[in-house]
Amino acid sequence: MALQDCNIVLGVSGGIAAYKSADLCRQLKKNGAKVRVVMTQGACAFIQPLTFQALSGEPVSTALLDEDAEAGMGHIELAKWADLILIAPASANCIARIANGFADDLLTTLVLATEAQIAIAPAMNQVMWANPITQKNLQNLIESYEQRLQIVGPASGEQACGDVGFGRMMEPSDIVAAISQESTPRECKYRVVITAGPTREAIDPVRYISNHSSGKMGYALAEAFHAVGADVCLISGPVNLSCSSGIERIDVTSAEQMYEQAMRQARTGLDVFIGSAAVADYRPIDVSEQKMKKTDFGDNIQVELTQNPDIIANVSAMREISQSLIVGFAAETNDVIQYAKSKLKRKSLDVVIANDVSNQEIGFNSDNNEVTLVTVDGEELLPLTSKASLAQELVTRLSEKLNQKRKSK
Ligand SMILES: Cc1cc2nc3c(=O)[nH]c(=O)nc-3n(C[C@H](O)[C@H](O)[C@H](O)COP(=O)(O)O)c2cc1C
Repeated sequence: MALQDCNIVLGVSGGIAAYKSADLCRQLKKNGAKVRVVMTQGACAFIQPLTFQALSGEPVSTALLDEDAEAGMGHIELAKWADLILIAPASANCIARIANGFADDLLTTLVLATEAQIAIAPAMNQVMWANPITQKNLQNLIESYEQRLQIVGPASGEQACGDVGFGRMMEPSDIVAAISQESTPRECKYRVVITAGPTREAIDPVRYISNHSSGKMGYALAEAFHAVGADVCLISGPVNLSCSSGIERIDVTSAEQMYEQAMRQARTGLDVFIGSAAVADYRPIDVSEQKMKKTDFGDNIQVELTQNPDIIANVSAMREISQSLIVGFAAETNDVIQYAKSKLKRKSLDVVIANDVSNQEIGFNSDNNEVTLVTVDGEELLPLTSKASLAQELVTRLSEKLNQKRKSK
C-alpha cells in the first residue's frame, strides 16, 4: 500500500510498547500518510493523547460514547475515512476483543465497522503470545478478515518484563516497511497445492511409523494463500488442525496416498506446489493383517522397509507444470543450508524453505518459525516470527518468484 495520501487510523492499545507508537505516528506522517490516532483507555495509561495530537496534527479520539466527537468525525465516518486501520501495539486483550467481534470501545467498533485494510502489530509478554487462546484468536482474525488483514510481527528478543522470547512489537520502521510493501498480493488468482503434516506407515492395524510434524506451517500457508484469494488445495496427513471452509482439504494417511493425491492435483494443473509435509521416506514392506503379538517374537523384531515414492521430485518432473513454482521444505537438524542446496538441485526445485528443527523454538510443534529461502540465486533469511506472519511473508516471496519464473520463460 502506498503511504502517500493514505488515510490511516493508528489504533494504540494498552501495552508497554505504546511509547514506540509515537515514533510510528511520526514515520507514517513522514511517508505522506494522513494519520488519525485512536487510543484505548488502556493506552492512555501508558502515553498521553497530547503526544499523538502533536505528532499527527489531528485531534486524538479516546472514547466511543463521546458526544463532542460524534458531532465531529463520528465512529462510522472514521471507519469510512480510513484506507487502513493499523493497531500498534495490539495488546492480547485488544486482539481477543476484535477476534470476537466486540464493539465496546472506539477502536474495536471501528474495526467492526470498517471495510478498510486492517494491520495489527502484536506486542505482549512471550507467555501471553504463546498462549493457545491468543493463537486461536489470531487464527480467528485471519479466517474472518482474510485478505483485508496483515499481521506484522511480533519480533523476538528481550522484553520489557525481562523475559526473552516472542512478543516484542516490531520496530516502527519495520512496521512502515511491512504495510507499504506494494508487492503484497491483495488478490491472487493462483491454484496452490500444499501438502502438510506427517504420514503414517502401517506396521499392522494398530501400529505405524511416523514423525513429529504438526502440520502447522503447511496449514498457515494454506490460510495465507486462501486469504489473498488463491484457490487452495491442502493434502493433509493426520493432524489436529482445522482450516477455513474455502480451502479444499484432502485427508490422507500414508505417503503412497499422499503421492497419489499430489500427482492427481498436478495433472489437473497448478501454479504453485508446496511440499511442506514430512513424508516418511520408507514404509514397511509387509503390513501384518492382524495385530502382531509379542509372544510371536523373541527379544528383537525386524521390520523391513522399502522406499516411498518421492512426491516432490515426481511433481517437479512433470512437464505439464513446467511453468509452475515448485517449493520444497528441508526440515533438518544439522548442515541445514547445505542439505537444502543439494535438495534444490537434486529434485529440480525452484525454492527450498529450510529450517532447523533441532531448535525447539522453531521446531515441529512450535507456533513460530525462522526459515531460509534457498534458490539458485542465493539464500535469504526470514527471521523468527509466528508461523501465521511467516506464511504471509512467504505468500509475497513465492508470488514474486512465480512471476519471475514466468517472465523468464
Ligand atoms: C505495566 C504493564 C504493562 C503491560 N504491557 C502489556 C503488553 O505489552 N501487552 C499486552 O497485551 N498487555 C499488556 N498489559 C496488560 C494490558 O494493559 C491490559 O490487558 C489492558 O486491559 C489492555 O487494554 P486495551 O487492550 O483495551 O488497551 C500491561 C499491563 C501493565 C500494568
